[in-house]
Amino acid sequence: MILKSIKGTKDILPSDSSRWQYVEQVVRGVFHRYNYKEIRTPMFELTSLFSRSIGELTDIVGKEMYTFTDRSGDSVTLRPEGTASVVRSYIQNNLGEAQPLVKVYYIAPMFRQERPQAGRLRQFHQFGAEAIGSPTPETDVEIIAMAAEIYRQFGITNFTLKINSVGDEECRPRYKELLRTELMTIADQLSVESQKRIEQNPMRVLDSKDEKDLALTKDMPRITDHLNEECAVHFERVKELLTLMGIPFVVDPRLVRGLDYYTKTAFELTSDELGSQSALAGGGRYDLLTQELGGKQTPAVGFAAGIERLMMVLEKNNFTVPALRPALFLAAADEASRGWTIVTTMELRSRGVAVETDFLQRSLKAQMREADRQLARHVVVVGAHELAAGRATLRNLDDHTNREVELGLLADAVMR
Ligand code: HAM
Repeated sequence: MILKSIKGTKDILPSDSSRWQYVEQVVRGVFHRYNYKEIRTPMFELTSLFSRSIGELTDIVGKEMYTFTDRSGDSVTLRPEGTASVVRSYIQNNLGEAQPLVKVYYIAPMFRQERPQAGRLRQFHQFGAEAIGSPTPETDVEIIAMAAEIYRQFGITNFTLKINSVGDEECRPRYKELLRTELMTIADQLSVESQKRIEQNPMRVLDSKDEKDLALTKDMPRITDHLNEECAVHFERVKELLTLMGIPFVVDPRLVRGLDYYTKTAFELTSDELGSQSALAGGGRYDLLTQELGGKQTPAVGFAAGIERLMMVLEKNNFTVPALRPALFLAAADEASRGWTIVTTMELRSRGVAVETDFLQRSLKAQMREADRQLARHVVVVGAHELAAGRATLRNLDDHTNREVELGLLADAVMR
């Protein structure tokens, strides 16, 4: 039996990996310009880290985590997202001690046992960033602007930025109570899923996927009308700054994210080109999480984006990245010259030139075909005659021109 990969996981094949590397390089470039530094946390953590941060009642913790008991009897989980681990590490390593504002980013695989479909995988990849230590709306806007900037770098501008404020520990419980009371009056008309949510998480009813639920809850109280002074002022300033920076947004009072740690600002970037899994990225402020995980109360804000979803949009836009190409293919004209081509290939490589040669003892004709297939920029055929003369013909495969070069100067000739 041929073993296959697990459903919802994907190989990134050699033909795709240069695209991934290119995307990662652009993303890193933006993060570095915004002065975010990379953090790498383990791929698995104690299960309680995620249940305490993301929330026991969320779909992620309730249904989607890859959780198992390891041989020492600990319950561990493959990380479903990055924020919890970053905050855990921030507390554990006292990162806040050296500086008041810690800005970090990650590019990493995440795991959720969701039903696979286009744009939804069980092992997927995120890039994300967290700014820990700032309570200001300016930092919210830095995070949002940075996320938007990444898409712009790829020429993607037709996304929608939706923002909301989900309130704080003072005004949100009040609003939830009000909403719960209102929802109870129409409970029997709501979908079963929404009925279940009224008690525990009434705000999730407002972002139900069910069209009928949406129509029924159209005129329900909106959180944005029930914020306390502090949250309202914060939200106004976020909107003002986004406007000043020329970043278009829509306020969506129904936006509640699928993770429970958010306070104040929450946002999502969506694209019409993605179909039902339309979220490119999401994030928001989480001022209570550090404390929840045993640290000092530290305000923070961040976002994460799905790389596969970015790739889908890039593919729709026929975005291509330059292929990795050898600068030179060294072909051997006869058996006696193979020793020289192999040794010279290795030498040139150690001098920094990307060189390929024949390792399959193929005919000269087959070697020339291989040079084409590898998209080599140049080819040199070396036989007894060339070795004796110390010179050979360097053929440029892009413009089909030939020139004579000294074999000792090959590196310079192909690098020029
Ligand atoms: P999230 O909304 O759960 O937020 O995920 C962020 C992004 O990851 C989504 O918008 C989507 O592009 C991608 N994504 C999520 N699940 C899948 C999946 N099964 N397959 C493919 N892509 C997926 C978070 O993870 C938060 N940690 C974001 C954050 C950071 N908030 C504050 N800081």
